[in-house]
Amino acid sequence: MSVERSILLKKHFSKADNTLRPILTALNDDHSLLISFPRPLVERNSSGKAYFHIVSDPWMFGSAVMLASWIATIDLPNAAQFKNGGDIEDLIRQIEDTAKASGVTSRSDKADSPLLDAISVSFYYPDHMHEPTLRTFDASIPVFAAKEAAAIIQSWDYFTTVVSTQDLVQGTADWRNGTHSSPSLPGWLSIFRLVGHHEVNYATAIVWSSAPDTHEALLLSPHGIDIDQASIQTYIHDMKPRITTLGMLFPLHDTFAFGWRTTFGVVGGLKVESHVKPKYWVRTADGELVYQGLIRWFGNVIYRTIESGLEEVKKLELAARDTNENFGFGFKLSTQRHEIQFRKRRHSFEAVEFSGSIRERFETERFNPKMSQLLSLVANQGLTLVSVAFLLVGLAVLLPSYATDEVPLVGKELGNAEKRRKVFISRPQDLYTKGYRSFRNKIFRITGADADRFILPRGLLNELNESRYTGLANNQAHTDFLVDLVRNDLTHSLYRINSRLSLQASITVPEELGPCEDWTSTIVYQKLLRIVAIISGNVFLGPELCKSEEWLTSAITYTVDLFTAIGKLKQWKSWTRPIGQYFIPELKSLREHRHKARAWLAPVIARRRLMMKEGKELPDDMLQWMMSKTAEYDIGDEELSLIQLNLSLAAINTTTRTVTSVLYDIAVHSEIVAELRQEIKMVLAAHDGVLSAHALFEMKLLDSVMKESQRANPEFLGSIIESPHANIVQDPHLYSNPEIFDAHRFMNLRNGTATDPLNYKNKEQYQFVAVTKEFMAFGYGKHACPGRFFAANEIKLILVHILLGYDIMMPDHITQRYANLNMGIVSMPDPTKKILFKREKT
Ligand code: HEM
Repeated sequence: MSVERSILLKKHFSKADNTLRPILTALNDDHSLLISFPRPLVERNSSGKAYFHIVSDPWMFGSAVMLASWIATIDLPNAAQFKNGGDIEDLIRQIEDTAKASGVTSRSDKADSPLLDAISVSFYYPDHMHEPTLRTFDASIPVFAAKEAAAIIQSWDYFTTVVSTQDLVQGTADWRNGTHSSPSLPGWLSIFRLVGHHEVNYATAIVWSSAPDTHEALLLSPHGIDIDQASIQTYIHDMKPRITTLGMLFPLHDTFAFGWRTTFGVVGGLKVESHVKPKYWVRTADGELVYQGLIRWFGNVIYRTIESGLEEVKKLELAARDTNENFGFGFKLSTQRHEIQFRKRRHSFEAVEFSGSIRERFETERFNPKMSQLLSLVANQGLTLVSVAFLLVGLAVLLPSYATDEVPLVGKELGNAEKRRKVFISRPQDLYTKGYRSFRNKIFRITGADADRFILPRGLLNELNESRYTGLANNQAHTDFLVDLVRNDLTHSLYRINSRLSLQASITVPEELGPCEDWTSTIVYQKLLRIVAIISGNVFLGPELCKSEEWLTSAITYTVDLFTAIGKLKQWKSWTRPIGQYFIPELKSLREHRHKARAWLAPVIARRRLMMKEGKELPDDMLQWMMSKTAEYDIGDEELSLIQLNLSLAAINTTTRTVTSVLYDIAVHSEIVAELRQEIKMVLAAHDGVLSAHALFEMKLLDSVMKESQRANPEFLGSIIESPHANIVQDPHLYSNPEIFDAHRFMNLRNGTATDPLNYKNKEQYQFVAVTKEFMAFGYGKHACPGRFFAANEIKLILVHILLGYDIMMPDHITQRYANLNMGIVSMPDPTKKILFKREKT
């Protein structure tokens, strides 16, 4: 036993009398816990144990892989000191031995039965239900698990007793009836779940009844829970008999995946705190984790502090004062009295103990998956989204030609690989910038989160372009088909279809943004997702289907459901997947999306085939262009709905992020709005008021603003082919005063009024859609985004309608642009931020 823990335990028991309090032991950072509840006196004597020990969500070693390591692999940054069930038995023995030595118990425990009394599993994702760790526990220990997790654990056929815990239901007369889980739990302990609006947002309540009328709960919520949900409202207002909340075990950080908030963070926690008024808030499931795979592209973590949460609450309070709105804090207006109450209760924030918490220092361990493994995993997936796979391809193709240790390593002076890896995780930009400064024209190495990353100089990019760089996709025929359609049919049709796109934009932008008669606060990203999906849908599927709510839901959520489902399915061994599929709701949603898409499209396709046969005039949209090329690619009509969904996958989120980013820039550079409007009006006047593709081309300031926004906010530190993209677009030798957002930069470079450090012969290389070694927002080489021409037109149309129709302002007199969310090498506009819009009256 560590000296620190031994002292703590002795101190704990020296104070102890018959009123022992629970002990909380952090097993690995703050992810898995041992919770020890004091047994009633009589039970202490009969069992010889002072406590009932429950281990919660044990994940002690190895990776938590969501389906495939390249999709989402989560690792603990440090190796846990307690590595398995045996280590936890030793830990419990130390607690019980100290209790005995202090005279709290007298009889010895039964040597042949495990000391751990129960395992609690709150959720079925592998960072909570970690099968390799769980299998290190004695199989006779009862497992209490939320029902989805219980079903999976039962299917392992390992544990003798697996109890499915109940959900707290609104209107429950006495929570002890119906929520008390099983005879394997003593009558003075109950475990139940408070369900939230989404499966990740729940709380597990463990209620300890130390006396017939004293019920104290621990609320464990690794992702936070929405305070408006019926289950937690019942917990707050209707518990009979009354339960007081001893501790809230909630994280502070905010997490996002695919633009959705997955953790309510410190502000969400403060809302719960203001209602349940716990004695302690123990910061849990908040430690740094190492994310690898696609999740790094589509997910973000923002580490928060109590101070930043309180700051934000203050702002919400101020806003509430203006609008008389209730932000879920249980009061309408901020008064001094409320603030004082807030502060009083907050004395125990970040407390790590009830009566003696025990933390240990950890050794570090390096995780280093092989590139080849990642590649074979990619190849084994049933995915057709090609763009996501290229990070791996770009590296794998080039590495064989360079001997690793000949390539200079950035950050050698930091010491060992682990130290470099830590810097990469927390401040990757530092390493990229240092490497770029030292080896601008050479290939260099950076120690990444998983393995070394090789960063190529601009000069080598042409070589890459000529190399064996080929697309990697499971269904190459679908990919080739899609790329051909986007590159040729869609791009070549832009002049023709532009008026239709423009009409759709003129209807959709005001419909979705709403009347905004007065300044109206709007979460831009959410609105734009629908706007982009509808306008794109007009060309992808035609003007009728594009407005169907079902189509919109599928087009927008298909990406999220696809990656989540793949992650979950992979947790099941291949031969158990026929059963596993029934426990993965996203698979059902995916089937539904595909089924609906097929169901809508089948009659449309049949009708169109007939029209083709009869030689009638045919619709002018992507679906029709696809139908004309199916024979050439040997693709059946029934595959077209899936290809349409994949098209949405490539097109909608990317475009939405770009428009969001531009609006964030425009909102803080309001001086440019008048000039942009003037340009738009002048160009419109010169084109008889028609927003043709040519008119959009003439809006060179708008084009410049869009490109400058991409330059100032690069989405990847290294571009997809791992050239130091962010350093390049912010290099003062290539772009003068790169730290300044210069709306005119690219317009002036195009019209020759600014000095061109890159000395391009053709200044049109400074257009938004241009792909150069000095600007790789759309990739580079053979696989550069073929949809960029369509995207550029669509973005311009949306911006034109917003700029002509609305005044734009930042809320709360904010003058700084909203910070991007950075995670690893990826950066994106924060999808939760608001901008104020007001209908233009002139
Ligand atoms: C502003 C919006 C967009 C951005 C920033 C973007 C970015 C990218 C990037 C970085 C790549 C990978 C390039 C490479 O591997 O070198 C890519 C590929 C691709 N994009 Fe886009 N994209 C956008 C919009 C679109 C749209 C609207 C479509 C379809 C209409 C589309 C269709 C595709 C396809 C099919 C590929 C795969 C190309 C191939 O494998 O050869 N993208 N995109």
